[in-house]
Amino acid sequence: MSRHLTTLDELSAQEFSDLLAVAVYLKRRRAQGIVEHALAGKTLAMIFEKPSLRTRLSFEVGMTELGGTATYIRGEEVGMNTREPIKDIARVLSRYVQGIMLRTFSHANVVEMARHATVPVINGLSDACHPCQALADLLTIHEHLGETRGLKVVFVGDGNNVARSLARACVLSGATFVLAAPAAYAFSAEDVASFGPAWGSAVSHVPDAAAAARGADVLYTDVWTSMGQEAERETRLKDFRGYAIDQRLIALAAPRVKVMHCLPAHRGEEISDAAVEGAQSIVFDQAENRLHAQKAILRLAMADDAERVIAAARATT
Ligand code: CP
Ligand code: NVA
Repeated sequence: MSRHLTTLDELSAQEFSDLLAVAVYLKRRRAQGIVEHALAGKTLAMIFEKPSLRTRLSFEVGMTELGGTATYIRGEEVGMNTREPIKDIARVLSRYVQGIMLRTFSHANVVEMARHATVPVINGLSDACHPCQALADLLTIHEHLGETRGLKVVFVGDGNNVARSLARACVLSGATFVLAAPAAYAFSAEDVASFGPAWGSAVSHVPDAAAAARGADVLYTDVWTSMGQEAERETRLKDFRGYAIDQRLIALAAPRVKVMHCLPAHRGEEISDAAVEGAQSIVFDQAENRLHAQKAILRLAMADDAERVIAAARATT
């Protein structure tokens, strides 16, 4: 894995697969009660410009379980680019801590932090992408369906940060990704270009949700109105009508279909209550896997024995 994790674009398929293997390994060792303090004496600074439950807790608990410490800093307190420039924050933090996690609005802030920090910078969600979520998602898909290669993953709703990272993670894992979104909410021309030859084959856009859902192995959705888009909520509620995961859509998918949502979910909007609570739903396993995925990311980015852990994980998985 490269030093920073700002987007999944910077990872090779091998590095992504290493992260998954280490996540599986750490999850199993945790279940066996094995304590590993690979990050003893190390601190992760976490800056949050947006609210969080899963990301904050999984990083914080992950650091504790690895023997280190995480410190939470509210975005307003730091004042990125208002109280001080990011390049100064990056250099100050690099003198105190061994890793920086950033949840922010503009993806340019993550890029700027990574450019000036001398410690690893991990993107805990930006308007552009959510790489840590996608790692947990592929871990969950693999656990439940026994493979990732050749699966059809259909994302229903907004072509947003979560969709973008999931699409990239599918490409890295050999799965097919279909975005079922109204034309105005599909991937941008820049996104399409970033997929290169995968666009139109491994990654595609199908405007009709029912057509996209046919034969799906995974039906995935996220909120129609992301953090920071609250002013557009009424318009989005109208624009996304017909793009919800419900029993009708699930019936069109493959018999083994799994229903996923990164959470928080808005029941009655992008997903029905029955779909969240139903037999096909794996949303809480998915949420749990944020912890195991985060620990793999932290371990490979911040510990000194990445090669050894990858080899140990490979030897046992
Ligand atoms: N899925 C996710 O990132 O959740 P939080 O916003 O609660 O961190
Ligand atoms: N797309 C959502 C994801 C929340 C985890 C948002 O950015 O608000």
